[in-house]
Amino acid sequence: MATIAKILGSRSSLRLLLNNRNRFYSSKSYEFIKSEIVGAKSNVALITLNRPKALNALSNGLMKELSDALEQYENDKNVAAIVITGSEKAFAAGADIKEMQPNTYEKCIMNNFLHDWTKVSHCQKPIIAAVNGYALGGGCELAMMCDIIYAGEKAKFGQPEIALGTIPGAGGSQRLTRIIGKSKAMEMCLTGNMISAQEAEQSGLVSKVFPPEKLVEEAIKLGDKIGTHSNLIVQICKEAVNSAYETTLQQGLNFERRQFHATFSTKDRKEGMTAFVEKRPANFTNE
Ligand code: CAA
Repeated sequence: MATIAKILGSRSSLRLLLNNRNRFYSSKSYEFIKSEIVGAKSNVALITLNRPKALNALSNGLMKELSDALEQYENDKNVAAIVITGSEKAFAAGADIKEMQPNTYEKCIMNNFLHDWTKVSHCQKPIIAAVNGYALGGGCELAMMCDIIYAGEKAKFGQPEIALGTIPGAGGSQRLTRIIGKSKAMEMCLTGNMISAQEAEQSGLVSKVFPPEKLVEEAIKLGDKIGTHSNLIVQICKEAVNSAYETTLQQGLNFERRQFHATFSTKDRKEGMTAFVEKRPANFTNE
């Protein structure tokens, strides 16, 4: 370290280098995705699925890279929110059918098929899916693993696995049903029919719809807004909202109350309320 400091000529340069260490890791290059830091305060990570010839079909390689990038960003304290997007034609047209086609039951079990996908739903930081074009099968499931879905006006959501002689395998029969209700989810899963961005918004699957060319910009703005709050409290809040999907109402209410109480042990809760009382902007430190 001392040698590096000498080479750099000052301690402050070294501090800067160490502070940005994660950034260098985060911007590493991948084959099937692109990842970059964006946003007004450079604290939003943008991951773009990038297999255009296969409509961003979610191959094992792509999902490994996505998990890797998410892990880097989860560990980067400068990243407040993550946006996942695809192309204008496809967010993702599902798991890679060509790769899956020779699979057998034994291989699925032995290779723990789809295990790499769980990283998305376990990420502690908020993830926004910006969906243009097709979000089908695993693509729709990937979007639902994210915390908020914004859609372009031409987006299409569907679970067409039934036409391939299989069923959704990454949450399509479970998350979709909890989000849009049994009748609509059953219809989508049993017919393979797609729904439009507008229908998805009416059903609560999507929170807002934008013109396709504005979508990513709007998702980044949403990340910017989330990033103005305490990252620590944002993570606690994400856990509380998610518990509504994973527990009974009473367990969820108890969890929420305790997490609310827990915020009173943080500096950021104190700062947020003090700033309000003193009529000034809060300066959160994530402590
Ligand atoms: N896997 C692999 N390749 C795919 C793919 C997929 N899921 N979806 C599209 N592609 C490929 C096509 O094979 C084609 O490649 P070639 O040019 O080499 O033939 C290329 O992407 C372009 O696709 P199309 O020519 O079909 O484009 P289109 O505009 O005519 O149709 C589409 C678009 C309606 C999305 C159509 O591609 C389609 O139906 N794709 C499959 C959708 C699907 O069934 N998804 C579910 C997958 S199973 C799953 O996801 C399981 C799970 O729950 C995890």
